[in-house]
Amino acid sequence: GRVVEVVIQHGAADIAALVADEIEKLLAAKPDAVLGLATGSSPLAVYDELVRRHEAGRISFARARGFMLDEYVGLPDDHPERYRNVIEREIASRVDFAPGAVQGPDGNSDDLLGACEDYEAAIAAAGGVDLQILGIGTDGHIAFNEPGSSLASRTRIKTLTSQTRTDNARFFDGDVERVPRHCLTQGLATIMSARHLVLIATGTGKAEAVHQLTEGPVSAMWPATVMQHHPHATVLVDDAAASRLQ
Ligand code: F6R
Repeated sequence: GRVVEVVIQHGAADIAALVADEIEKLLAAKPDAVLGLATGSSPLAVYDELVRRHEAGRISFARARGFMLDEYVGLPDDHPERYRNVIEREIASRVDFAPGAVQGPDGNSDDLLGACEDYEAAIAAAGGVDLQILGIGTDGHIAFNEPGSSLASRTRIKTLTSQTRTDNARFFDGDVERVPRHCLTQGLATIMSARHLVLIATGTGKAEAVHQLTEGPVSAMWPATVMQHHPHATVLVDDAAASRLQ
């Protein structure tokens, strides 16, 4: 039987409303909650919904903190696809996070190993992540833990697979050569330390990864399968992403 909770909805808007409900409840109970923020397409509808609820006076992030999952290595500081800039544009600047309250690993550090250690320490010092938003790669990655990642991994430097670089070329004028080759990413054990995991997947391109995540054997070849060992993991999918579930 399934170990992770699977919620099937008709579309991204329904999924976004459910995730926003969870975050609204969390912030009501714990205004200084720590949120784990994903980039990519999957969480965008959630961020839009959080902005709407913030503007309606229902949610404040004034005391909350945010930790990003990952960052490309070597993009110019002002590059629009640098994840720190993406998160600023898509959510942080649109709500009332305090300055500096949203952090990410520093993919432009002169000391990338040190930046990874600092990032783990910052998450721990904040008391850990209360609710982690996740997307999933077509190859089953979460954050940028590509197939073969250790289930015990912490924040580190990774090489992106050619599949992921092809998938993400749409953010770089369709030119795979412009997609960075390396990234800093929270490890699978880092992600597993979050108290609630909320993964969003839509579209047929995610159907195989969602099948493996929820019904396959736990394996580093499908890194998201580690979530089967998490005590509180929720997977929200649309009909297309659910199409290979048995
Ligand atoms: C992004 C991240 C990635 C994405 C995944 C899915 O911070 O960590 O794991 O969540 O590549 O991307 P989208 O949502 O664009 O399909």
